[in-house]
Amino acid sequence: MQVASLGLPPAQLPPPPAYRKPVLVTTYSHLPDRHLEPGDASMAYFRPGGALPGSDLAYGFDERIERDERLEEHLDGMCWALGRGGERKGGVVSWRGMMTRIMTAPFEDREGWEMRALALDGSVYLEIWEDRDSADYSYKMKENAQWALQSYMGYAYEAYATIPEAEDGPEGWSGTVNTNVQWCNVVRSAIGDVPLFLGGEVDCVRGPVGSPNPGLDATVELKTNKVINSERADKIFLKKLLKHWAQSFLLGVPTVDVGFRTDAGILESRHEFETATLPALAARGGANWTPAPCLHFLSAVLSMLVREVLPTDPVVTGAADGLEEGDLPPAHLFSLRFTPRRGVELVSLGE
Ligand code: A3P
Ligand code: MG
Ligand code: MG
Repeated sequence: MQVASLGLPPAQLPPPPAYRKPVLVTTYSHLPDRHLEPGDASMAYFRPGGALPGSDLAYGFDERIERDERLEEHLDGMCWALGRGGERKGGVVSWRGMMTRIMTAPFEDREGWEMRALALDGSVYLEIWEDRDSADYSYKMKENAQWALQSYMGYAYEAYATIPEAEDGPEGWSGTVNTNVQWCNVVRSAIGDVPLFLGGEVDCVRGPVGSPNPGLDATVELKTNKVINSERADKIFLKKLLKHWAQSFLLGVPTVDVGFRTDAGILESRHEFETATLPALAARGGANWTPAPCLHFLSAVLSMLVREVLPTDPVVTGAADGLEEGDLPPAHLFSLRFTPRRGVELVSLGE
């Protein structure tokens, strides 16, 4: 049953709702074996001056250790973080990646997505939903395998752009790429009057090796890009900047360091961009995106979720009454579906 839908915002809009500057609530680390522990064990330090030009981003490909994508972790890390405080009821708890998808939807003309939402204990929880038995999913997995080396180069760039604990391998190399390792920052923010509690991976921080977590203002997002050598490549880069901007803006990461590589994976140059200036940079280059529709759409979608999903909270409806301690109340599930160039619809799937 469709309960609500939203078309995409028009190009001419009033000033967008404010996005509150994110405040860091807590951090946690996934270790090399994917175990999760509180704190900054997996925090990496940005190498002053960045990765060295000439670095080979294909180095170590055969030794890489990859996270098992089949494991569904849902919002486990976030739920653990909630226990550490900072949540404000009446809002949305999710991954930053979900917010990035919603925010960039007004300019997305290719890929649709589906998320699942439910209300529990005063908040709306939102996560991605993929039908792992579907043809679409197998196709995506096959495509990913074909792009394994390209994707690896992004991680290898992280290894060169951060300070190695021990020198082993080519100059600047931090050791075997292990995608189990992740450092997550959990922030509190708000869009308009909807409170947000968001978790996301942060690539590294500026600061002396071994120093304590310097906070969001010192965080750096690392990205790779093919060397820009044509007008077409420039256009593609300006388009990609929308995702880079949204991703970093949402978590309060002020710097995006982009490494430019050849097709073969040799780093030619790098450039540090200020997240806040990315929209102006893209506009000057003639990109078609601007932040206003993104913020309007994020605000409209999240307001819709709070309005439609929150009242089904089993604590509010009484469905949680009489349950034993530790029993999960029956949750009312919703599906949020995005169709490119159309908008989103919210469908009630029931209990
Ligand atoms: P690049 O984006 O520099 O290529 P993130 O930039 O978000 O920290 O992610 C690090 C790297 O993981 C990316 O580096 C990319 O190589 C890989 N990656 C991230 N999301 C991906 C996806 N959806 N599919 C394939 N690879 C992905
Ligand atoms: Mg990352
Ligand atoms: Mg990155």
